[in-house]
Amino acid sequence: MIETGYLMTDFLHSAEWNSRPRIVAGMMSGTSLDGVDVCIAEFRSENGRDTFTVLHEHTRPFTRQEYQFFKNLIDREQPISIVCDANILLMSLYADTLRKAVDSHSDIQIDAIGIHGQTVWHSPQIHNVCGKNLRSTLQLASPSALAVEFGVPVVSDFRSADVALGGQGAPLIPMFDFSFLRSETQHVTALNIGGMANVTFIPPHSSHNDVIAFDTGPGNVWIDAAMLHYYGKRYDENGATARAGRIIQPMFNELQELGFVAAPPPKSTGREMFAQDYLEDVLRRHVRHFLPPEDAIATLTAFTAYSIAENVRRFGTPTTTLVASGGGVHNRYLIELLIQELPSAAYLPITSFGVSADAKESLCFGYLAYRTLGGRMSNIPSVTGASRPTILGSITLP
Ligand SMILES: Nc1ncnc2c1ncn2[C@@H]1O[C@H](COP(=O)(O)OP(=O)(O)OP(=O)(O)O)[C@@H](O)[C@H]1O
Ligand SMILES: [Mg+2]
Repeated sequence: MIETGYLMTDFLHSAEWNSRPRIVAGMMSGTSLDGVDVCIAEFRSENGRDTFTVLHEHTRPFTRQEYQFFKNLIDREQPISIVCDANILLMSLYADTLRKAVDSHSDIQIDAIGIHGQTVWHSPQIHNVCGKNLRSTLQLASPSALAVEFGVPVVSDFRSADVALGGQGAPLIPMFDFSFLRSETQHVTALNIGGMANVTFIPPHSSHNDVIAFDTGPGNVWIDAAMLHYYGKRYDENGATARAGRIIQPMFNELQELGFVAAPPPKSTGREMFAQDYLEDVLRRHVRHFLPPEDAIATLTAFTAYSIAENVRRFGTPTTTLVASGGGVHNRYLIELLIQELPSAAYLPITSFGVSADAKESLCFGYLAYRTLGGRMSNIPSVTGASRPTILGSITLP
């Protein structure tokens, strides 16, 4: 007799999944390598509209040793044994983080987990390998061990299906932005300032196809790299260092000329484009020994604000409601500069939607898992370039 466990009927039957509210833990670790974020939320679908309530959110920072391990993995060529270990180490860090959250809330019973994983390679453009034209993307963190440890389905590998359909596999956050941040009367710009910065433009009264989303350039990546270089710190706490510095005009002018800022969307970037080598070269040429290093931080912060604002001016609309999230929101000086750059925008904190700036992305991946288990598609082809919408991710059963 073929055993059909309760999972087959309860979890893979999307009508059953959609029949009641579901509690999903979303987890991710981003390009800044600051740590693992978990956000546990209850999702509901009623009358064609989704809603969520955040029940718990938490970031478990990477230790110095973990940070160095993953940084080496991303920045340098590593033997496959290290990649294999990283896959399990990440899973174990995700499991520890979630275990802590679940144990501290005995009243919360999670129905599923959605993990973004750690991107170690993202190459969605066609390249030839062994005579085959391929597109590829890899997010690490083994879902199987998580599924057995927590006894619930895990959805992972969210990007591959979109890439297989000719898309960029990114950005995937716009489905969340469209579902929860859109307004009937206002143009909304959802801005996430992580390692890179990205925006989602949602016009009033829009459908999926009207959404525009793309990377604007660096978020925290250059500020963080320069802070590490000059001060041995991982980031500029609240923007205090930048605030104490002055803009180095020739350096700012050179950065303004970077083609990426003015290039029309669709565009996406990663560390490859805003590479460490280029930054080091710029710093070497412009930050002479008699200039204080805070001037370099001030210049990079001003450029980051400029590149975000310039993209909103060119490709969105300056009279927009700006909803910012990501760790860069804690850089008060960066946000002040951004508000100065966009004087006719209304700045609305993401907290007014019931989630913190730090938990938004992990919440998104919980939401995408919720949609996947409900048999719903989540990529927006006009945003990613995929040939059609599709259900995202792989489902691993416990
Ligand atoms: N108090 C703070 N002051 C200034 N910057 C901060 C502060 N807290 C966090 N940050 C910045 O936020 C970054 C982390 O942001 P976040 O977690 O959104 O990025 P991420 O994990 O790289 O995500 P993504 O993959 O979306 O880029 C840190 O590297 C740092 O630059
Ligand atoms: Mg992070």
